Amino acid sequence: YNLLELISFLSFFFFFYRPAIFLCFHFFLSSWWTEVQMGPPDPILGVTEAFKRDTNSKKMNLGVGAYRDDNGKPYVLSCVRKAEALIASKMLDKEYLPIGGLGDFNKACAELALGPDSEVLKSKRSITVQTISGTGSLRIGANFLSRFHTVARDVYLPKPSWGNHTPIFRDAGMQLKAYRYYDPATCGFDFTGALDDVSKIPEHSVIMLHACAHNPTGVDPRPEQWKELSAVIKKRKLLVFFDMAYQGFASGDIDRDAWAVRYFLEQGHSVLLSQSFAKNMGLYGERVGGFTVVCADAEEAKRVESQLKILIRPIYSNPPMNGARIASTILSTPELRSTWLEEVKGMADRIIKMREMLVTNLKKEGSTHNWQHVIDQIGMFCFTGLKPEQVERLTKEFSVYMTKDGRISVAGVTSGNVGYLAHAIHQVTK
Ligand SMILES: Cc1ncc(COP(=O)(O)O)c(C=O)c1O
Repeated sequence: YNLLELISFLSFFFFFYRPAIFLCFHFFLSSWWTEVQMGPPDPILGVTEAFKRDTNSKKMNLGVGAYRDDNGKPYVLSCVRKAEALIASKMLDKEYLPIGGLGDFNKACAELALGPDSEVLKSKRSITVQTISGTGSLRIGANFLSRFHTVARDVYLPKPSWGNHTPIFRDAGMQLKAYRYYDPATCGFDFTGALDDVSKIPEHSVIMLHACAHNPTGVDPRPEQWKELSAVIKKRKLLVFFDMAYQGFASGDIDRDAWAVRYFLEQGHSVLLSQSFAKNMGLYGERVGGFTVVCADAEEAKRVESQLKILIRPIYSNPPMNGARIASTILSTPELRSTWLEEVKGMADRIIKMREMLVTNLKKEGSTHNWQHVIDQIGMFCFTGLKPEQVERLTKEFSVYMTKDGRISVAGVTSGNVGYLAHAIHQVTK
């Protein structure tokens, strides 16, 4: 009788508490995420992890794209320190920013890229929103394309391009294609290949252009080549998306580095533009950027603005204010702005000097290879032309860390370690 009672009690219990029992089982015996596979580590951050574990005192991390001073230390620009002090002294509140960000920042950001005399700005036919640095800007742009550029889904990237471009656009639902860009034979720009490929891109597709200091190759088109590219792109009726993450960092001159963007606008292209203040103001972790859409007229710009806000609101509601306040204070305070222009030039010049010193030291080591591309390339990165096996040897035998494609961040080279780097490169390439 007791057994029967027990059985009926258990059946009653199981019947009514099935979901709870199932949950307990699930909790104790397995997990919700058993199906989730281990993903590969980020190729660049993976390099940093390996570097950290290395105990060699001569180790060098040339993987990550962040500027270092000539002592190999992270560098906070003095204009940033001064702007921070100025902002702190104002005892400003911490209310939410509008969805599109800090108005003064947006204005200064667009003006920096398009130039103070820009016809686009005068006619108010563009809209700029503050974004979470360059990556956030590209993602908002990708989402905007995905929602509104329905005539074509293809985004053509230079081959190679910054590694994050592909997942940014893919995750937003766009399809990735490529056009020839880098010529391994010359370690330079494959102009003929690029023109040939671009001339075959289907109409209305999106073409991604690095405005200056192409990442990862450090190879930029010359002005005459930009002009020809612009003409072909126009003929093919392509939508241009400029990624400008390094304005000022390439040549040391903010206007010179924005030349291509401004030229394309003069030629009547309606561009999308992504900007980052990570590198040129050293505001990496502050996440300051802007996304601009150049429209046909002011009325269209207003409509686009309304839709950008609708896109942004459910993602992060509104952007963070601190970095935008810093950047906008620097750009709109004459003394700080001129200090910034000197400092950005100082960073660019140090990189250019390191390129030259690396080549001089390679020659001193007795290398007979042609290293001219190291000097000709521009910006933070240098595509050395080193093969994956040589990169592996550099890491294993000399504790010099870089991405497998042979890209080095020249910003990580100093007058103190350039000799060691040249020695190591010569050992694996002779
Ligand atoms: C070509 C390019 N675009 C965009 C970015 C975005 O960087 P961030 O999100 O740090 O501004 C980078 C950074 O390395 C880059 O190299």
